[in-house]
Amino acid sequence: MKSFALRENAYAKVNLALDILGKRADGYHDLKTMMASVSLCDDLEITLTPCADGRERFAAESNNPALPTDDDNLAVKAARMFFLAAGVAGYEVHIRIEKRIPVCAGLGGGSSDAAAVLRALSSRFPMPESILESLALNLGSDVPYCLRGGVCLAEGRGERLTPLPSLPDCHIVLTVPPVRVSTAAAFQSVVVPAMKTDWVLLTDALRRRDIAAIAGYMKNSFPDVHSDARECLRRAGALGTVMSGSGPSVFGVFHDEAIANQAVRKLRAIFLNTFLTKPV
Ligand code: C5P
Repeated sequence: MKSFALRENAYAKVNLALDILGKRADGYHDLKTMMASVSLCDDLEITLTPCADGRERFAAESNNPALPTDDDNLAVKAARMFFLAAGVAGYEVHIRIEKRIPVCAGLGGGSSDAAAVLRALSSRFPMPESILESLALNLGSDVPYCLRGGVCLAEGRGERLTPLPSLPDCHIVLTVPPVRVSTAAAFQSVVVPAMKTDWVLLTDALRRRDIAAIAGYMKNSFPDVHSDARECLRRAGALGTVMSGSGPSVFGVFHDEAIANQAVRKLRAIFLNTFLTKPV
């Protein structure tokens, strides 16, 4: 048998709203969050080569040299877990990741890469949806959402998903201040706030496709990691701004493409990692 390649896009996510509801006995936090996928993506190419000795090997390679190439890479872990669950063996698995999503940024890049591996492999080796979902949750709290994408409400650790209508046409400017954030550390030090998202109004705005209202109801329980970034987006004309996940990325929602383009130029002069994206 010859080798073959599977290709997938792994889209970044933003949290339009994120409430931390409380700490659980298992150390995780109960959340309620609305996530949306955006057009900034990594490209994955997974090459499977049957190996003569019948033993599987897994490795990754990336244009970003900071990415681990072994099992510390969530995409490699996803492939290994998938093969074990599927009872498939005897392949050398090589994952090439063209990385565009900044790492440790609150944009779900690693989770999305892992979900893309699960999607790609299940297109070749069919796997029941429920097993795929449990593999995803074992890989990380955001991976079940990344498997599905689009706009979803995520509850529990992040695995209880309710699909929601897509975002109306808009432009989302993402900017990543140069600060590294550890999600675990951010959760450890967070104080559960009293002020929560108005879910009724936010969901109603989404159903009415009212982008200005959606932007106005965006909220995040985590304190801003870099307060200037949101202020810059606000001054550049964003309808609303919020930090994504545990940060440090922040994003602004724009109705007008020209204003969004202008905002990207202004923000890039301060924060190199600024991206113009659209909902996908
Ligand atoms: O699930 P994941 O590995 O992405 O989570 C990273 C860390 O973030 C966890 O070890 C946990 O400390 C924290 N976390 C949490 N509650 C969640 C999701 C993550 O406390 N719902």
